[in-house]
Amino acid sequence: MDELLAGRRMRRNRQTDWSRRLVRENTLTVDDLIWPIFIVDGTGVRQPVPSMPGVERLSVDEAVKDAIKAESLGIPALALFPYTDPSLRDAMGSEALNPDNLICRACRAIKAAKLNIGLITDVALDPYTSHGHDGILEGDRILNDETVSQLALQALIQAEAGADVIAPSDMMDGRIGAIRTALDEGGFRDHQIMAYSAKYASAFYGPFRDAVGTNATLVGDKRTYQMDYGNADEALREAELDIAEGADMVMVKPGMPYLDIVTRIKDTFRVPTYAYQVSGEYAMIAAAAGNGWIDGQKAMIESLMAFKRAGADGILTYFAPQVAEILAGKK
Ligand code: PBG
Repeated sequence: MDELLAGRRMRRNRQTDWSRRLVRENTLTVDDLIWPIFIVDGTGVRQPVPSMPGVERLSVDEAVKDAIKAESLGIPALALFPYTDPSLRDAMGSEALNPDNLICRACRAIKAAKLNIGLITDVALDPYTSHGHDGILEGDRILNDETVSQLALQALIQAEAGADVIAPSDMMDGRIGAIRTALDEGGFRDHQIMAYSAKYASAFYGPFRDAVGTNATLVGDKRTYQMDYGNADEALREAELDIAEGADMVMVKPGMPYLDIVTRIKDTFRVPTYAYQVSGEYAMIAAAAGNGWIDGQKAMIESLMAFKRAGADGILTYFAPQVAEILAGKK
Protein backbone atom coordinates (compact mmCIF):
# COMPACT_ATOMS: atom_id res chain seq x y z
CA MET A 1 0.00 0.00 0.00
CA ASP A 2 2.91 2.35 0.75
CA GLU A 3 3.99 2.00 -2.86
CA LEU A 4 0.59 3.08 -4.16
CA LEU A 5 0.42 5.98 -1.73
CA ALA A 6 3.78 7.17 -3.00
CA GLY A 7 2.30 7.21 -6.50
CA ARG A 8 4.43 4.34 -7.76
CA ARG A 9 2.32 2.51 -10.32
CA MET A 10 4.37 0.12 -12.40
CA ARG A 11 1.58 -0.34 -14.92
CA ARG A 12 1.76 3.28 -16.12
CA ASN A 13 4.65 2.55 -18.48
CA ARG A 14 2.93 -0.57 -19.83
CA GLN A 15 -0.28 1.06 -21.02
CA THR A 16 0.52 1.55 -24.69
CA ASP A 17 2.60 -0.04 -27.38
CA TRP A 18 4.75 3.08 -27.89
CA SER A 19 5.46 3.35 -24.19
CA ARG A 20 6.35 -0.32 -23.85
CA ARG A 21 8.77 0.12 -26.74
CA LEU A 22 10.19 3.25 -25.16
CA VAL A 23 10.99 1.58 -21.83
CA ARG A 24 12.16 -1.75 -23.25
CA GLU A 25 15.61 -2.57 -21.89
CA ASN A 26 16.75 -5.14 -24.44
CA THR A 27 16.43 -5.61 -28.16
CA LEU A 28 16.62 -8.53 -30.53
CA THR A 29 17.94 -7.81 -34.01
CA VAL A 30 19.11 -9.88 -36.94
CA ASP A 31 22.68 -9.04 -35.89
CA ASP A 32 22.20 -11.35 -32.90
CA LEU A 33 21.64 -14.46 -35.00
CA ILE A 34 23.99 -17.27 -36.00
CA TRP A 35 22.39 -19.93 -38.17
CA PRO A 36 23.63 -23.55 -37.75
CA ILE A 37 23.23 -25.64 -40.91
CA PHE A 38 23.87 -29.31 -41.71
CA ILE A 39 25.79 -30.38 -44.81
CA VAL A 40 25.36 -33.71 -46.60
CA ASP A 41 26.96 -35.23 -49.70
CA GLY A 42 25.37 -35.01 -53.15
CA THR A 43 23.83 -32.29 -55.29
CA GLY A 44 20.36 -30.83 -55.12
CA VAL A 45 19.76 -32.63 -51.82
CA ARG A 46 17.52 -31.23 -49.06
CA GLN A 47 16.89 -33.99 -46.51
CA PRO A 48 14.44 -33.25 -43.69
CA VAL A 49 15.67 -34.09 -40.19
CA PRO A 50 12.62 -35.79 -38.60
CA SER A 51 13.39 -34.77 -35.00
CA MET A 52 13.90 -31.14 -36.07
CA PRO A 53 10.76 -30.20 -38.02
CA GLY A 54 11.66 -27.50 -40.56
CA VAL A 55 15.40 -28.28 -40.56
CA GLU A 56 17.06 -30.00 -43.51
CA ARG A 57 20.48 -31.40 -44.32
CA LEU A 58 21.77 -29.57 -47.39
CA SER A 59 24.15 -30.62 -50.12
CA VAL A 60 26.92 -28.10 -50.77
CA ASP A 61 25.12 -26.45 -53.71
CA GLU A 62 21.94 -26.05 -51.64
CA ALA A 63 23.98 -24.70 -48.73
CA VAL A 64 25.29 -21.98 -51.05
CA LYS A 65 21.68 -21.04 -51.85
CA ASP A 66 20.82 -20.85 -48.15
CA ALA A 67 23.95 -18.81 -47.50
CA ILE A 68 22.81 -16.32 -50.13
CA LYS A 69 19.38 -16.25 -48.49
CA ALA A 70 20.99 -15.74 -45.08
CA GLU A 71 23.04 -12.83 -46.38
CA SER A 72 19.98 -11.22 -47.94
CA LEU A 73 18.19 -11.51 -44.59
CA GLY A 74 21.16 -9.86 -42.87
CA ILE A 75 22.20 -12.87 -40.77
CA PRO A 76 25.86 -12.22 -39.83
CA ALA A 77 27.14 -15.80 -39.70
CA LEU A 78 26.54 -19.47 -40.42
CA ALA A 79 27.77 -22.42 -38.34
CA LEU A 80 28.46 -25.53 -40.43
CA PHE A 81 28.07 -29.16 -39.30
CA PRO A 82 28.56 -32.25 -41.48
CA TYR A 83 26.63 -35.47 -41.88
CA THR A 84 29.58 -37.69 -42.78
CA ASP A 85 28.84 -40.83 -44.74
CA PRO A 86 29.19 -43.80 -42.32
CA SER A 87 31.70 -45.44 -44.69
CA LEU A 88 34.06 -42.48 -44.07
CA ARG A 89 33.93 -42.71 -40.27
CA ASP A 90 36.70 -44.50 -38.40
CA ALA A 91 38.06 -44.84 -34.87
CA MET A 92 40.42 -41.86 -35.28
CA GLY A 93 38.01 -39.57 -37.11
CA SER A 94 40.55 -39.29 -39.96
CA GLU A 95 38.00 -37.67 -42.29
CA ALA A 96 38.22 -34.57 -40.09
CA LEU A 97 41.69 -34.04 -41.55
CA ASN A 98 40.71 -34.52 -45.18
CA PRO A 99 41.04 -31.10 -46.88
CA ASP A 100 38.27 -32.21 -49.24
CA ASN A 101 35.77 -33.25 -46.59
CA LEU A 102 32.23 -31.91 -46.70
CA ILE A 103 32.87 -28.95 -44.43
CA CYS A 104 35.92 -27.82 -46.41
CA ARG A 105 34.03 -28.17 -49.68
CA ALA A 106 31.11 -26.21 -48.25
CA CYS A 107 33.45 -23.46 -47.01
CA ARG A 108 35.12 -23.14 -50.40
CA ALA A 109 31.80 -23.09 -52.26
CA ILE A 110 30.21 -20.50 -49.98
CA LYS A 111 33.37 -18.36 -50.01
CA ALA A 112 33.35 -18.44 -53.82
CA ALA A 113 29.96 -16.70 -53.71
CA LYS A 114 31.71 -13.71 -52.05
CA LEU A 115 29.01 -13.01 -49.50
CA ASN A 116 29.10 -10.64 -46.58
CA ILE A 117 28.64 -13.48 -44.11
CA GLY A 118 30.93 -15.22 -41.61
CA LEU A 119 31.60 -18.94 -41.69
CA ILE A 120 31.97 -20.66 -38.33
CA THR A 121 33.26 -24.23 -38.38
CA ASP A 122 32.94 -26.85 -35.69
CA VAL A 123 36.16 -28.37 -34.40
CA ALA A 124 35.50 -31.78 -32.84
CA LEU A 125 35.82 -35.34 -34.05
CA ASP A 126 32.31 -36.70 -33.39
CA PRO A 127 30.85 -36.36 -36.91
CA TYR A 128 33.85 -38.31 -38.18
CA THR A 129 34.38 -41.09 -35.60
CA SER A 130 32.82 -44.54 -35.78
CA HIS A 131 32.08 -44.36 -32.02
CA GLY A 132 30.54 -40.87 -32.07
CA HIS A 133 32.89 -39.34 -29.50
CA ASP A 134 34.52 -35.93 -29.87
CA GLY A 135 37.97 -37.35 -29.32
CA ILE A 136 40.21 -40.36 -29.79
CA LEU A 137 38.97 -43.34 -27.81
CA GLU A 138 41.34 -45.82 -26.15
CA GLY A 139 39.48 -48.55 -24.29
CA ASP A 140 36.82 -46.52 -22.53
CA ARG A 141 38.94 -43.36 -22.23
CA ILE A 142 39.00 -40.29 -24.46
CA LEU A 143 42.66 -39.35 -24.89
CA ASN A 144 43.02 -35.63 -24.24
CA ASP A 145 46.39 -34.56 -25.62
CA GLU A 146 46.34 -36.86 -28.65
CA THR A 147 42.91 -35.45 -29.50
CA VAL A 148 44.11 -31.86 -29.08
CA SER A 149 46.91 -32.42 -31.61
CA GLN A 150 44.37 -33.69 -34.11
CA LEU A 151 41.97 -30.80 -33.42
CA ALA A 152 44.72 -28.27 -34.12
CA LEU A 153 45.24 -29.86 -37.55
CA GLN A 154 41.47 -29.93 -38.14
CA ALA A 155 41.29 -26.20 -37.35
CA LEU A 156 44.11 -25.52 -39.82
CA ILE A 157 42.48 -27.34 -42.73
CA GLN A 158 39.21 -25.52 -42.02
CA ALA A 159 40.98 -22.16 -42.02
CA GLU A 160 42.71 -23.11 -45.28
CA ALA A 161 39.30 -23.95 -46.78
CA GLY A 162 37.94 -20.52 -45.91
CA ALA A 163 36.42 -20.75 -42.44
CA ASP A 164 36.46 -17.36 -40.69
CA VAL A 165 35.79 -18.43 -37.12
CA ILE A 166 37.06 -21.67 -35.61
CA ALA A 167 34.67 -23.04 -32.99
CA PRO A 168 35.97 -25.96 -30.91
CA SER A 169 33.06 -27.86 -29.35
CA ASP A 170 35.02 -30.86 -28.11
CA MET A 171 35.73 -29.82 -24.47
CA MET A 172 39.28 -31.24 -24.37
CA ASP A 173 41.62 -29.42 -22.01
CA GLY A 174 44.11 -27.04 -23.61
CA ARG A 175 42.62 -27.09 -27.09
CA ILE A 176 42.13 -23.34 -27.42
CA GLY A 177 45.81 -22.63 -26.81
CA ALA A 178 46.92 -25.41 -29.16
CA ILE A 179 44.56 -24.21 -31.91
CA ARG A 180 45.66 -20.58 -31.44
CA THR A 181 49.30 -21.60 -31.83
CA ALA A 182 48.55 -23.76 -34.89
CA LEU A 183 46.57 -20.96 -36.54
CA ASP A 184 49.25 -18.35 -35.82
CA GLU A 185 52.05 -20.55 -37.10
CA GLY A 186 50.00 -21.52 -40.15
CA GLY A 187 49.57 -17.90 -41.21
CA PHE A 188 46.05 -17.46 -39.81
CA ARG A 189 46.87 -14.96 -37.09
CA ASP A 190 43.67 -13.00 -37.73
CA HIS A 191 41.28 -15.95 -37.62
CA GLN A 192 38.89 -15.75 -34.69
CA ILE A 193 38.20 -18.51 -32.17
CA MET A 194 34.74 -18.96 -30.68
CA ALA A 195 35.20 -21.39 -27.80
CA TYR A 196 32.42 -23.66 -26.64
CA SER A 197 33.65 -22.88 -23.13
CA ALA A 198 30.78 -24.09 -20.98
CA LYS A 199 29.39 -27.05 -22.82
CA TYR A 200 27.34 -29.37 -20.67
CA ALA A 201 26.70 -33.11 -21.08
CA SER A 202 23.08 -32.64 -22.07
CA ALA A 203 20.07 -34.64 -23.19
CA PHE A 204 19.07 -31.66 -25.32
CA TYR A 205 21.56 -32.60 -28.07
CA GLY A 206 19.53 -35.63 -29.17
CA PRO A 207 18.07 -34.23 -32.42
CA PHE A 208 21.47 -32.81 -33.46
CA ARG A 209 22.92 -36.30 -33.14
CA ASP A 210 20.16 -37.48 -35.48
CA ALA A 211 21.09 -34.74 -37.92
CA VAL A 212 24.80 -35.61 -37.99
CA GLY A 213 24.16 -39.35 -37.63
CA THR A 214 25.90 -40.01 -34.31
CA ASN A 215 22.91 -41.12 -32.21
CA ALA A 216 23.00 -44.58 -33.71
CA THR A 217 26.71 -45.06 -33.07
CA LEU A 218 27.52 -43.18 -29.85
CA VAL A 219 29.15 -45.53 -27.38
CA GLY A 220 28.33 -44.52 -23.79
CA ASP A 221 28.03 -40.82 -23.00
CA LYS A 222 30.17 -37.68 -22.98
CA ARG A 223 30.33 -37.02 -19.25
CA THR A 224 34.12 -37.39 -18.96
CA TYR A 225 34.65 -34.29 -21.09
CA GLN A 226 31.42 -32.26 -21.24
CA MET A 227 30.41 -30.49 -18.02
CA ASP A 228 28.18 -31.79 -15.25
CA TYR A 229 24.94 -29.83 -15.28
CA GLY A 230 25.07 -29.48 -11.50
CA ASN A 231 28.00 -27.06 -11.81
CA ALA A 232 28.15 -23.31 -12.36
CA ASP A 233 31.41 -22.04 -10.80
CA GLU A 234 33.22 -24.56 -12.97
CA ALA A 235 31.85 -22.81 -16.06
CA LEU A 236 33.65 -19.64 -14.98
CA ARG A 237 36.92 -21.56 -14.69
CA GLU A 238 36.41 -23.05 -18.14
CA ALA A 239 35.72 -19.62 -19.65
CA GLU A 240 38.69 -18.08 -17.82
CA LEU A 241 41.06 -20.72 -19.22
CA ASP A 242 39.70 -20.38 -22.77
CA ILE A 243 40.05 -16.59 -22.66
CA ALA A 244 43.60 -16.91 -21.29
CA GLU A 245 44.44 -19.39 -24.06
CA GLY A 246 43.25 -16.98 -26.74
CA ALA A 247 39.49 -17.33 -27.28
CA ASP A 248 38.02 -14.22 -28.93
CA MET A 249 34.47 -15.21 -28.03
CA VAL A 250 33.02 -17.71 -25.58
CA MET A 251 29.86 -19.74 -25.73
CA VAL A 252 27.45 -21.48 -23.38
CA LYS A 253 25.57 -24.57 -24.43
CA PRO A 254 22.73 -25.59 -24.15
CA GLY A 255 20.94 -22.25 -24.03
CA MET A 256 17.62 -21.69 -22.31
CA PRO A 257 18.15 -23.97 -19.29
CA TYR A 258 21.61 -22.39 -18.82
CA LEU A 259 20.88 -18.65 -18.90
CA ASP A 260 22.30 -18.31 -15.38
CA ILE A 261 25.66 -19.42 -16.82
CA VAL A 262 25.41 -16.88 -19.65
CA THR A 263 24.79 -14.09 -17.15
CA ARG A 264 27.61 -15.11 -14.84
CA ILE A 265 30.17 -15.46 -17.64
CA LYS A 266 29.18 -12.14 -19.23
CA ASP A 267 29.16 -10.32 -15.88
CA THR A 268 32.51 -11.78 -14.86
CA PHE A 269 34.57 -11.47 -18.03
CA ARG A 270 32.80 -8.84 -20.18
CA VAL A 271 33.87 -10.64 -23.36
CA PRO A 272 31.71 -11.40 -26.41
CA THR A 273 29.48 -14.17 -25.05
CA TYR A 274 27.20 -16.40 -27.10
CA ALA A 275 24.68 -19.09 -26.34
CA TYR A 276 23.51 -22.05 -28.38
CA GLN A 277 19.78 -22.70 -28.44
CA VAL A 278 20.41 -26.36 -29.17
CA SER A 279 18.53 -28.91 -31.21
CA GLY A 280 16.42 -30.24 -28.32
CA GLU A 281 15.28 -26.73 -27.44
CA TYR A 282 14.42 -26.14 -31.08
CA ALA A 283 12.56 -29.46 -31.26
CA MET A 284 10.46 -28.67 -28.17
CA ILE A 285 9.30 -25.31 -29.50
CA ALA A 286 8.81 -26.58 -33.05
CA ALA A 287 6.87 -29.66 -31.89
CA ALA A 288 4.61 -27.74 -29.51
CA ALA A 289 3.97 -25.14 -32.20
CA GLY A 290 3.32 -27.85 -34.78
CA ASN A 291 0.68 -29.32 -32.51
CA GLY A 292 -0.94 -25.95 -31.98
CA TRP A 293 -0.03 -26.00 -28.28
CA ILE A 294 1.95 -22.77 -28.33
CA ASP A 295 2.29 -19.87 -30.74
CA GLY A 296 5.59 -20.80 -32.42
CA GLN A 297 6.50 -17.32 -33.68
CA LYS A 298 5.87 -15.69 -30.31
CA ALA A 299 7.72 -18.45 -28.45
CA MET A 300 10.81 -18.19 -30.65
CA ILE A 301 11.04 -14.42 -30.31
CA GLU A 302 10.44 -14.58 -26.56
CA SER A 303 13.06 -17.30 -26.12
CA LEU A 304 15.66 -15.32 -28.07
CA MET A 305 14.92 -12.10 -26.21
CA ALA A 306 15.50 -14.06 -22.99
CA PHE A 307 19.04 -14.82 -24.19
CA LYS A 308 19.63 -11.10 -24.79
CA ARG A 309 18.23 -10.22 -21.37
CA ALA A 310 20.61 -12.76 -19.82
CA GLY A 311 23.54 -10.94 -21.44
CA ALA A 312 24.22 -12.94 -24.62
CA ASP A 313 25.80 -11.00 -27.48
CA GLY A 314 24.33 -13.45 -29.96
CA ILE A 315 22.52 -16.76 -30.26
CA LEU A 316 23.13 -19.82 -32.40
CA THR A 317 19.61 -20.85 -33.34
CA TYR A 318 17.97 -23.04 -35.95
CA PHE A 319 15.17 -20.43 -35.95
CA ALA A 320 17.56 -17.84 -37.42
CA PRO A 321 16.01 -17.53 -40.91
CA GLN A 322 12.43 -17.53 -39.61
CA VAL A 323 13.26 -14.97 -36.95
CA ALA A 324 15.14 -12.79 -39.43
CA GLU A 325 12.02 -12.76 -41.61
CA ILE A 326 9.77 -11.91 -38.68
CA LEU A 327 12.10 -9.09 -37.59
CA ALA A 328 12.14 -7.75 -41.16
CA GLY A 329 8.34 -7.74 -41.11
CA LYS A 330 8.20 -10.32 -43.91
CA LYS A 331 6.16 -12.85 -41.91
C1 PBG B 1 29.49 -32.09 -30.96
C2 PBG B 1 28.39 -31.09 -31.01
C3 PBG B 1 27.12 -31.32 -30.49
C4 PBG B 1 26.37 -30.18 -30.76
C5 PBG B 1 27.20 -29.28 -31.43
N1 PBG B 1 28.47 -29.86 -31.56
C6 PBG B 1 26.53 -32.50 -29.85
C7 PBG B 1 27.26 -33.26 -28.84
O1 PBG B 1 28.11 -32.72 -28.11
O2 PBG B 1 27.02 -34.45 -28.77
C8 PBG B 1 24.94 -30.03 -30.36
C9 PBG B 1 24.17 -28.95 -31.02
C10 PBG B 1 22.70 -29.11 -30.89
O3 PBG B 1 22.18 -29.98 -30.15
O4 PBG B 1 22.00 -28.33 -31.55
N2 PBG B 1 30.77 -31.66 -31.14
